[in-house]
Amino acid sequence: MDIFNRSITTLNINSDIKAKLLKLSICNINDLKYFTPTKLAEEINIPVILAESIFEQINYDNIKPISGLELYTNELKKINSIQTFCKALDNMLEGVTVNGIPLGKITEFCGPPGIGKTQLGIQLSVNVQIPKMCKGIEGKAIFIDTEGSFMIERVIQIANSTVDYIKENYPNYKNDSFNLNSILSNIQYFRVHDFQEQIALINILENYIISDSMIKVIVIDSIAFHFRQTFSSMSLRTQILNNIAQILMKIADKYNIAIVIMNQMTMKFQRMKEDPANKEESLLVPALGESWGHASTNRFILSTTDDQMIRKIFLQKSPNNKQGIAYYQITNDGVRDV
Ligand SMILES: Nc1ncnc2c1ncn2[C@@H]1O[C@H](COP(=O)(O)OP(=O)(O)OP(=O)(O)O)[C@@H](O)[C@H]1O
Ligand SMILES: [Mg+2]
Repeated sequence: MDIFNRSITTLNINSDIKAKLLKLSICNINDLKYFTPTKLAEEINIPVILAESIFEQINYDNIKPISGLELYTNELKKINSIQTFCKALDNMLEGVTVNGIPLGKITEFCGPPGIGKTQLGIQLSVNVQIPKMCKGIEGKAIFIDTEGSFMIERVIQIANSTVDYIKENYPNYKNDSFNLNSILSNIQYFRVHDFQEQIALINILENYIISDSMIKVIVIDSIAFHFRQTFSSMSLRTQILNNIAQILMKIADKYNIAIVIMNQMTMKFQRMKEDPANKEESLLVPALGESWGHASTNRFILSTTDDQMIRKIFLQKSPNNKQGIAYYQITNDGVRDV
């Protein structure tokens, strides 16, 4: 069916007006294209406001086809990621609409104690709120704290620095609705004390998201904490973690939310290959085993360097980006480039 040939009889207008239009040989909506509401009102002797209501029903833009190039250009205008304030890190996850931590996917940061996982989680909870005018997505955050390391004083510090950053970099942004109070109120904080609470929360997470469509990032800091020592049955643990992964994947995809998972590192012992004495070597690997490794879309490994201030981030796994290394630092203001 030719959409431009839709009959005017399909419009929601009274039969007198329809008759007047037909008398003027206006049979389908394409024939109305040559009229303005004022001109039509004059021609068929109806109030302009009534003519306008006819045109409101015909949104020509909606029925025009769109070329592949236009589609691509429109895609480019969308922002589908959260910036970290470390450009080197953002650039590692580059796509058509992505430059930073992607919405709709699970991104995992694994690293030893003190490397900056919690700092990164706080920075993302703040940065997800950056106004659209300043290349942000103006969303809200959920922060799930399993370790008790979410320090409100530090959140305030990072939030204040982010507000200053926006003021400096976007002097044309005069609206002061992005401020410390708004930032703090847009972070929903959950403290989880044991693995039962963690499972229960993950199971009801979707309800929170349905009640607030502005939530665009969920940080879990950390996923492993309650699943490491206390678990006697490894198969039960794998089963629970698989279930958690399924729920998180569904939430990320269905609601276009960035799920950011912090994970610890653990020592793995394995037999050294090609060693006649068959000695064991130890490797530092992300906690929770290989099965959990499939849960995330992107996986980063954080580590120290010889310089105390500079930390290294390695993109170990990504479906559409090559492996790579970047450097970042944790400053008084939060996560920053080196
Ligand atoms: N105000 C600040 N100024 C500069 N650096 C800071 C500040 N606050 C924290 N840091 C840095 O962040 C580090 C702590 O990072 P963070 O707590 O995020 O580590 P983590 O990876 O979450 O560790 P864990 O596995 O123990 O939870 C500190 O060691 C310090 O180097
Ligand atoms: Mg931490």
